[in-house]
Amino acid sequence: MAIQDNSSQNRWSSRWLFVLAAAGSAVGLGNIWKFPYIAGENGGGAFVLIYLVCIALVGIPIMISEVLMGREGRSSPIHTMRTLAKKAGRSERWALLGWLGVITGFLILSYYAVIAGWALNYVWLTANGTFDGASADSVAQAFTDLQADPLQMIAYQTAFMVVTIWIVGRGVTAGLEKAIQWFMPALFILLIVLLIYSFNSGGFAQGWAFMFDFKWEAVGPEAWLIAMGQAFFTLSLGMGTMMAYGAYVPEDAKLSTTVVTIALLDTLVAIAAGLAIFPIVFANGLEVSQGPGLTFVTLPLAFGQLPFGALFGAIFFVLISFAAITSAISLTEPALAYLTEEYNAKRQRVAISLGVVCWLLGLGTVFSFNIWSDIFIVGELNFFGFVDYLSQNIMLPLGGMLITIFAVWLLPKEMVNRQLGISSTAMFWAWRIVAGIVAPLGVLAIFVFTIWPLVRSLFNL
Ligand code: PFF
Repeated sequence: MAIQDNSSQNRWSSRWLFVLAAAGSAVGLGNIWKFPYIAGENGGGAFVLIYLVCIALVGIPIMISEVLMGREGRSSPIHTMRTLAKKAGRSERWALLGWLGVITGFLILSYYAVIAGWALNYVWLTANGTFDGASADSVAQAFTDLQADPLQMIAYQTAFMVVTIWIVGRGVTAGLEKAIQWFMPALFILLIVLLIYSFNSGGFAQGWAFMFDFKWEAVGPEAWLIAMGQAFFTLSLGMGTMMAYGAYVPEDAKLSTTVVTIALLDTLVAIAAGLAIFPIVFANGLEVSQGPGLTFVTLPLAFGQLPFGALFGAIFFVLISFAAITSAISLTEPALAYLTEEYNAKRQRVAISLGVVCWLLGLGTVFSFNIWSDIFIVGELNFFGFVDYLSQNIMLPLGGMLITIFAVWLLPKEMVNRQLGISSTAMFWAWRIVAGIVAPLGVLAIFVFTIWPLVRSLFNL
């Protein structure tokens, strides 16, 4: 095993670049495509509040654990877990947690690229006026047609993967930092432009009320599970991404405030995406509870009815594509860092090999919408459903729970206190109770609730 490497000598050029990079990882399809539609399906305001609680009590402590371990280990998650387990006098099998992350990253990226490919396709469709004044049926048909056409989906999935791999192959400074320095400010500007547009759309008051009026009767117990799963996904937790990025964090950055800033940025973008989307939907008298089709059917239909809809619709899909790229590059980092370290290999070569494997796996997702739509892997889950369920509902929570247990209960106290700059006993106990008890128990709860129905349906219990 060779722990000396190319990647662990890398450092973010500043604390702010780490904040931007981590926010780039966090802000993605999860914020702009998924958050608005699950908030829409779960009644809006009350769900938003539950989601914020999950971010604060589960998300932030787990992110702190990941980043502190990354900065202490200074290598890929697999090597970091091995080194830290040794330092803590624990079994080196903890490195398996790093492996779990690498595999989860592959699974997520494989379908992430397909959905990001839809967004790329929609940049083109909206910009050339396809949806201008179109009927609800024809907008829905355009989405059905895209999903029924594997070749078109593969073309966009390939384009997205090529850009991602090209960026990551160039390394931390020339690839990741450069891309982040361009994409993140562009993303914030586009979001503000869209907010202004939505503010003037005529449905803003209704959109605002939907996001912030707490209608408790609209949320059921499963809203907690959905919110918690979303907190993991949106903050990129549980698979070592933040650990891999944490390995490049400069020594002098204060971890707790840095992590809180990242979580705040991510949350702001999710809320802003909701505030950009719902008013436009309401202004056209459309339904917000359309599920995954909210972005690809309801929204293009709404833009098609509004002045300059083609322009602003295209801006919206460029925004999603940018957000997806900065997340996709982070999904490769745990595997990429490990392989370059372990085999002392060229980053570019490793990136291409990883990209090819992920691309091939992604074909399963492409076919799940057409030729394999009726092939079920488990219960009613086809290939995409299965990969999505397994990675998001099982692997991320499992990884996150073990990471925070390891950081709080197994790492030497002095190491954690030094990394976090903890000086008082009160702070120490606050950290232990929230990160060591509340967060893992919260995760355990989702775990039991999400897996139990599956087990029951599988074994007819
Ligand atoms: N946080 C990303 C999103 O919200 O779209 C998805 C993601 C990226 C999940 C990186 C996990 C990860 F490691």
